[in-house]
Amino acid sequence: MKSQQKPVIWITGASKGIGAALAGTFSTLDAVVVLSGRNKSLLEKNVQAINNNGGSAFALLCDVTKKHDVDAAYKKISAKLGTVDTLINNAGVTTFKTFEETTAEDFNAIIETNLRGYFFCIKAVLPEMLKRKCGTIISIHSVSATNVFLRSSVYSAAKAGALAMTRCLRAEVRKSGIRVIDVLPGATVTEMWNEKVREKHHTKMMQPENLAEAVLSVYLQPEGVTTDEIVLRPIEGDL
Ligand SMILES: NC(=O)c1ccc[n+]([C@@H]2O[C@H](COP(=O)([O-])OP(=O)(O)OC[C@H]3O[C@@H](n4cnc5c(N)ncnc54)[C@H](OP(=O)(O)O)[C@@H]3O)[C@@H](O)[C@H]2O)c1
Repeated sequence: MKSQQKPVIWITGASKGIGAALAGTFSTLDAVVVLSGRNKSLLEKNVQAINNNGGSAFALLCDVTKKHDVDAAYKKISAKLGTVDTLINNAGVTTFKTFEETTAEDFNAIIETNLRGYFFCIKAVLPEMLKRKCGTIISIHSVSATNVFLRSSVYSAAKAGALAMTRCLRAEVRKSGIRVIDVLPGATVTEMWNEKVREKHHTKMMQPENLAEAVLSVYLQPEGVTTDEIVLRPIEGDL
């Protein structure tokens, strides 16, 4: 049943970290937030917290590396809640290995999640957005897309590829009224970093909730205004 007339915001990789923070922050809007990922219990915990807080949230299992998972998730959202107004591509992984240590399996996992996953999710939501001539696609990339960091070669390649892809997408769809917003964050305290790094550097890293607030402010632009790209870094810069 499409019980909601509220805008639908789909956030991938919302079980923890930046995705969970984005879900909490965007749930303060008069909107339904859909949290997807691979960990059912974490997703449900986040959904419950949002709903207990007066928001409106749904959990959905979806592995973004699997096209049929993404397409099935999109179908479920459309049938239950209506058209997706906003997609936030966020699900991502890395390994922090040197190029020499990186295996072909690492390569596949990083590219399949951070690049192909973004492609699949955009492919799912785009046709309806084009039909309606509106919609917003936010992609969480990384400063690694444009800067050199150690132990990040394949991650940087995936992020640079995704950024190139969404930059071209923006040029193609902006005349159709679709906003494509690219977010390039720097170091943020999440489990993507191991405990040692988080303990040592947490004061020099952004908190996911603060990053999410900044993304929300970019989303909430006045009529007729869009932010194409934004770089968000800790005040002290990169680690
Ligand atoms: N932390 C940083 O410093 C930083 C900086 C710049 C950009 N970013 C980007 O921000 C995004 C979020 O990262 P994070 O720091 O929040 O990391 P995180 O805490 O490790 O969270 C990653 C999220 O992605 C999900 N995910 C991973 N693989 C997935 C898959 N195949 N299908 C669906 N969901 C998947 C995870 O969910 P499940 O494992 O539960 O499925 C989890 O919810 C990533 O794109 C990352 O590259 C992070």
